[in-house]
Amino acid sequence: MAASIVLHDFEPSIGAFLDEVLEGLSQPQKRLPSKYFYDRRGCELFEQICELEEYYLTRTELTIMRCWAGEMAARIGPRAMLLELGSGASLKTRLLLDRLQDPAAYVPVDIAREHLMATAAKLRLRYPGLDIRPLCADFFDWFEPPEFEQIPERTVVYFPGSTIGNFDPEETETLLERMAALAGSDGGLLIGFDLQKDPAVIEAAYNDARGVTAAFNKNLLARINRELDANFHLEHFDHRALYNADAGRIEMHLVSRRPQTVRVHGRAISFARGESICTEYSYKYNHRDFRRDAAGAGYRHVQTWTDERDYFAVAYFEVA
Ligand code: AVI
Repeated sequence: MAASIVLHDFEPSIGAFLDEVLEGLSQPQKRLPSKYFYDRRGCELFEQICELEEYYLTRTELTIMRCWAGEMAARIGPRAMLLELGSGASLKTRLLLDRLQDPAAYVPVDIAREHLMATAAKLRLRYPGLDIRPLCADFFDWFEPPEFEQIPERTVVYFPGSTIGNFDPEETETLLERMAALAGSDGGLLIGFDLQKDPAVIEAAYNDARGVTAAFNKNLLARINRELDANFHLEHFDHRALYNADAGRIEMHLVSRRPQTVRVHGRAISFARGESICTEYSYKYNHRDFRRDAAGAGYRHVQTWTDERDYFAVAYFEVA
């Protein structure tokens, strides 16, 4: 039952949120951290994005999981502790948990506390015998994994959804190294990442016809208004998502429709007409580069599963 689920809490403070927002908005290219998309409304909108016709990522990764989760589970082996970063609704995880042999525990880690607890409660009903330990944290920060009376056979970090793509190359290197440290020797990393393809397909995924991605992008301003005493007028900003082919990434922006000054917690932030806030990068990879990055962070590649169009990949690495 939900009441018996213990939360391990490393949620970032409101002060950290304000500092990061003010710092980002003081840069020559204004920036906001994409991790703050995920308040309650942001989580709902993201779930809607995952079901959009244009947003091929979730559907493709789910197809890969449906086909190959058995093989992945065999690679992971028995009595593993699964630690999932950015767990969200844990949809793909269920496909894996259904096939894992006698899993020792499941630790979903997410910054969205309410969503995390609701998901943990649902999973508890589905897997009554499984030790589930939700942990609220910005997984890019340091956090202490829970301790277990019975030491699991191995720890496997599960990082689906191409969330790795939301970090720049330097952060990716750091994150890959931290995940290797979390998994420890004998541990593993099962990771999903989006692949490079026709830019038109990628751009459509972030500019959907129904405007859900635009609403998701603008909701970040609504959250800042509500939580940080700001006065962004959402109708004075346009959503823009463009593929930067040189960098191999989608860039999401909020573009000011007019010259304007916004106040955030008493600080005045000025915008010229057409000036943008960059809210998200979403990197797209090729197999070779991803393996090279993983090897540089101390992993040995075991196996990669992909779909028939080679749109998306899920790869298993062992900590070398
Ligand atoms: C969570 N992350 C992998 C998504 C992505 O595709 O980069 C977030 C997202 N942004 C806009 N649409 C979806």
